[in-house]
Amino acid sequence: MIRPLPTRVDRHGERFRQNLAANTSAVAQLREALALARAGGGEKYNARHKERGKLLPRERVELLLDRDAPFLEICALAGHGIGAGVKAGASIVGGVGVVAGVECMIACTEATVKGGAMNEYSVMKSRRLAEISEENRLPAIHLIESAGADLPNQSRIFVPGGRAFRDITRASKAGIPNICLVFGSSTAGGAYIPGMSDYTVMVDQQARVFLAGPPLVKMATNEDADEESLGGAAMHSRTSGVSDYLAHDEYEAIRLGREIVSLLPGRKAGPAPCPSADVSPPLYDAEDLLGIVSADVKVPFDAREVIARLVDGSAFHEFKPEFGTTLVTGWAHVHGYPVGILANQGVLFSESAQKGAQFIQLCNQKSVPLLFLQNITGFMVGTQYEQGGIIKHGAKLINAVSNSTVPAITIMMGASFGAGNYGMCGRAYAPRFLFSWPNHRIAVMGGEQLAGVLEIVKRDAAAKSGQSVDEMELSMMKMMLAQQIDKESNAYFATARLWDDGIIDPRDTRDVVGLCLSATHNAPVEGTMAFGVFRH
Ligand code: COA
Repeated sequence: MIRPLPTRVDRHGERFRQNLAANTSAVAQLREALALARAGGGEKYNARHKERGKLLPRERVELLLDRDAPFLEICALAGHGIGAGVKAGASIVGGVGVVAGVECMIACTEATVKGGAMNEYSVMKSRRLAEISEENRLPAIHLIESAGADLPNQSRIFVPGGRAFRDITRASKAGIPNICLVFGSSTAGGAYIPGMSDYTVMVDQQARVFLAGPPLVKMATNEDADEESLGGAAMHSRTSGVSDYLAHDEYEAIRLGREIVSLLPGRKAGPAPCPSADVSPPLYDAEDLLGIVSADVKVPFDAREVIARLVDGSAFHEFKPEFGTTLVTGWAHVHGYPVGILANQGVLFSESAQKGAQFIQLCNQKSVPLLFLQNITGFMVGTQYEQGGIIKHGAKLINAVSNSTVPAITIMMGASFGAGNYGMCGRAYAPRFLFSWPNHRIAVMGGEQLAGVLEIVKRDAAAKSGQSVDEMELSMMKMMLAQQIDKESNAYFATARLWDDGIIDPRDTRDVVGLCLSATHNAPVEGTMAFGVFRH
């Protein structure tokens, strides 16, 4: 029996109360941003869509999902704050949900935003959704009503956008079914999604699927074509064969989609018995997280207090607790799934990096998924540490993270600076899922430090060339650079650019991690002992 972690949290302490106030307001700001993204094209376009007798994109998703099943939304704020006509959510509603008892990847075009046209962020998001489907072997369901390429922005999407169709057919080859339900006009790129999918359903009198609509056909060949004969659902179901099923309305299309999924041989490939039948909640309230987690990333907080609120029964078997103490490592369960946790507890030293590498090897040896809880300002710097081989020890951790084959999930709890981001399985290290908390900050280094480094470089260069420094200009440069880096380190800047799979309320972390673990178990969970060369 694994012992539960104790807690030392003082709910009446000054720091707890300050964190609670700041984090509560950060969560409120997150809710507002999500509400805006979930409003799609806004009142005018939503009302117009409804007047046409159509379901809104999120209603389609909701009807497709099993009743009361959770929906793990992915990249809900992709494109947030970008401007230039890009709306938060990047014109796609995407995520993992349960359909007819099978976990699926769902991608629904947001028809109320520019007719569901795809911009560069939509392309990035659709690629990310395909990646999740592929890595975790989740059948993909596309709910389509799309004007194809966002035409004024075509140069940004034409080349990378082609990948979406390649992804579908390669998934088909790998035995991951792609199902497409077409609800409306789907032109050009929008037409290739039903064209490439394994199963296609079209809604009568609504779906219009063509490479070119009547105006372009007129321009190209001088033919006068009507929409229904050119690309109507009945024509595609009875004549061209692009559609496999003709649905008389949207509800029937959704029912057919669910039936198709129910006939798939959906069986989880992860090790049994997983999850374990006996799941106890943590001993401590997740509400405490808002008071525990520092609103200011410069102020450290105890990772064990977080773990105690994430894992089943708060039970944590800590590995090497006396060695490399700035990295907490150990085993636990989340919603019945075993996990090996690596959590930062300060700067990474050589010992903590070595311990992390060994721990990752052990998790691979027993095929246990990894959970990284990132709060890292970087690796330790200075002569003593360079002489002690901080680079080669850090490289061991990065080697282990890179070559590990068990699924990894990363939660950005606060700071994510420098190579610490890499060693702790940041986005470039391809964790299966990566979510952030609202207070998260990410950059090569903090704004003040970065500006300070450049100041020293500029002063040295001036001294070498015998020139004097313009103090006013230098101080302006420092101030502007610090402000720029500060803005670019923000969690919203990061999530808009798909550096994560979304920002979550810290209190939802246990459930989010549980859903991620459940999704990953659709593919085999297999570790490796092949890690390449470790320098000693
Ligand atoms: N790129 C950029 N913007 C587009 C667009 C596209 N492909 N298709 C539509 N839009 C914009 C419209 O300009 C309009 O903007 P506005 O509201 O600011 O005026 C908005 O999206 C809604 O379009 P609208 O035509 O009013 O919507 P609709 O529901 O009546 O018709 C379509 C939807 C998709 C049938 C129609 O817009 C259309 O045919 N679009 C062109 C499709 C096409 O040829 N794509 C080629 C891609 S390679």
